[in-house]
Amino acid sequence: MEKEKLEALLEDMSLQEKADQMLQLMGMFYQLDVNAILTGPAAAFGVSEEDIGMAGSILGTYGAQTLMEIQKNYMENQPHHIPLLFMMDVIHGMKTIFPMPLALGASFEPELAGRCAAAAAKEAAASGLHVTFSPMVDLVRDARWGRVMESTGEDPYLNALMAEAQVKGFQGEDMKEEGKVCACIKHFAGYGGAVAGREYHTAELSERTFRQYYLPAYKAGVDAGAGMVMTSFNTVNNIPATANQWLMRDVLRKEMGFDGVLISDFSAIQETVAHGYAEDKRDAARKAVEAGVDIDMMTSCYSGYLADLVQSGEIEEALVDECVRRILELKNKLGLFENPYKDADPEKEKELILCKEHRALAREAVGKSCVLLKNEGMLPLDLKKKTAFVGPYTDTRKMLSNWAVTGDQKDTVSLKEAAGEVFDQAVTTYHRGTPFLDRDMKLVGFESIEWKGATPEDGEWDEEAEERMFAQAVEAAGEAEVVVMPLGESFLQSGEACSRAMIELPRVQMKLLRRVAAVNPNIVVVLFTGRPLDLREISEIARAVLVVWMPGTEGGHGIADVLTGKVNPSGKLPMSFPYSVGQCPVCYNAFSTGRPCREGDNNRFFSKYLDIPNKPLYPFGYGLSYTSFTFSGVMLDRKEMSEEETITARVRVKNTGSLTGTEVVQLYLQDVAASVVRPVKELKDFEKVTLQPGEEREVAFLIDNEKLSFIRADGTVGSEAGLFRVWIGNCSETENVAEFRRT
Ligand code: BGC
Repeated sequence: MEKEKLEALLEDMSLQEKADQMLQLMGMFYQLDVNAILTGPAAAFGVSEEDIGMAGSILGTYGAQTLMEIQKNYMENQPHHIPLLFMMDVIHGMKTIFPMPLALGASFEPELAGRCAAAAAKEAAASGLHVTFSPMVDLVRDARWGRVMESTGEDPYLNALMAEAQVKGFQGEDMKEEGKVCACIKHFAGYGGAVAGREYHTAELSERTFRQYYLPAYKAGVDAGAGMVMTSFNTVNNIPATANQWLMRDVLRKEMGFDGVLISDFSAIQETVAHGYAEDKRDAARKAVEAGVDIDMMTSCYSGYLADLVQSGEIEEALVDECVRRILELKNKLGLFENPYKDADPEKEKELILCKEHRALAREAVGKSCVLLKNEGMLPLDLKKKTAFVGPYTDTRKMLSNWAVTGDQKDTVSLKEAAGEVFDQAVTTYHRGTPFLDRDMKLVGFESIEWKGATPEDGEWDEEAEERMFAQAVEAAGEAEVVVMPLGESFLQSGEACSRAMIELPRVQMKLLRRVAAVNPNIVVVLFTGRPLDLREISEIARAVLVVWMPGTEGGHGIADVLTGKVNPSGKLPMSFPYSVGQCPVCYNAFSTGRPCREGDNNRFFSKYLDIPNKPLYPFGYGLSYTSFTFSGVMLDRKEMSEEETITARVRVKNTGSLTGTEVVQLYLQDVAASVVRPVKELKDFEKVTLQPGEEREVAFLIDNEKLSFIRADGTVGSEAGLFRVWIGNCSETENVAEFRRT
């Protein structure tokens, strides 16, 4: 639709019609056979029947046939035949579920994350969707927060690359194209900074920290052309993000140049009342629209009060027009005025969903996201050896994650199924060994969900049944040469509203591990998790530890590939694994204190704990391979550079082992003294190199002014003259360093 036509349309709309375009409801409000009229929950919700029928967008419903019918009914009734927008959380895949985002972060391969997003977009678009609430680009440093699984980690540089790749993957060059959907960057902003990792909690971030660490990934997503942004639940500078004019108008729109649709998070406009920022829903509606929030997700604030606020002269109609214009523009960008069904196509949907190509990509992604933390010659497994799989993840398909809302467990390949294809069944046994969770463990709020790890077929476990399971598994472990233990968090222990104060494995699983260790030391732990866990005891007991995250549909195959050596692991931690929960939040790119404590320092008055080290157990960027690599010293082509000049930093990397392998070569920088203190180390570049046994290759990184720049004491962005350190290595704790001067 041409711009003038769109303006004419806007002009012709009634005020209430405009307010309804700004309302988003869940699909459950609609029933197909009666002209998209509301059902039960609506009454309690406080939206009139008319408004529900006219809401401009729907979330959480998919399926080509269903959405085509809803669209048809809606457009027949909508006074101007404006099409609906269909939105959904397609977070790490639609039906083909890829590894969770933190796992994709571990691949250190933005291009791979982009391909996964593109495949997800194809399936989603064929299912009738127009928008995905993804990527989530919140920086995360606190393993207690359940949503770390949705992020790509603790590093602004890596997150920014991942954000860009995913937005481009979802949207392509033009979101109108077949197989593309609009991406929505979330949650703006600082949601990952929740104090003590408690869900929906206040984020206490200085403006400098906020800008330097948290904003870059959102900015990268906006620069990549994301059509939408979602507000976050937290406050920023004591003002809820969803009603924060400085954040939305000055930072997001003016500074970052975002001109797309801004949607509130689920009920976040109304929540400004509970925050203590708005007196009531009417006040909340006024404050959110003044901040320029275009769509109200799942509250009746806008639909109930916007028209009245305009009529009473409390807000200008222009404010409403501004929002509706952006919504109509998005519908136009998606081509919905010409083709309201976009790519919805039941045949295409069947063809694309879980197609061979997508499954192959999912399998590749699992292989590339596994992180090998420890390996005392156990992996890859020797398939001739008698092997017992012992643990609750041995024979389950529950490995999609809490946020794979469109995925089906039935489509997932379990580890046992995958192992059945490659292991010699004559010498391999499989045992569950334990339920997922302790019998006395309560996941408050999850009561209605089948979560206990007890499937309907096998019922709940009593003490005796549990003991029988243990005994049988331990006996098998004792008879085996190698015990592979697929352990981990239940998939319901991480994700939204899944904060944990203790980041350990359930006691019942640790008990199993100890009992197995008592009969067989040759243990390989395969760790399923949505977050960094406290792995101290596991690391001591197990002779190998492989982190496989929540791997998705092809989890079984992808993990089996790594266990058998078909794929040599190359994943690196995108988030530090703390030594214990007491370190949280912990990250590698922190500041030094005036009394830094180095390993072995016993001075009482240094910055340290009495009972645990300062360093995480496994740092950012860490991950082993089945082969070994050596790095030469860092070579610089010059020792000084001005603002206009560059320095090339090089290393020679050699595969010194006997297998082909891939290493992530990482470049870190430190501005040694500056007008404001700078982090001890920051990732500025990386390159993945695959080397044959004995092969050596030079890897070069260009250091330019941008890499040295930061927000200076006066608020400007740029570099400062002085000494810099440059490290190149295979982990954030590398000591392979050189120095240069910016003149
Ligand atoms: C989450 C969002 C999500 C939305 C819609 C909210 O609870 O915070 O990330 O996109 O629900 O499902």
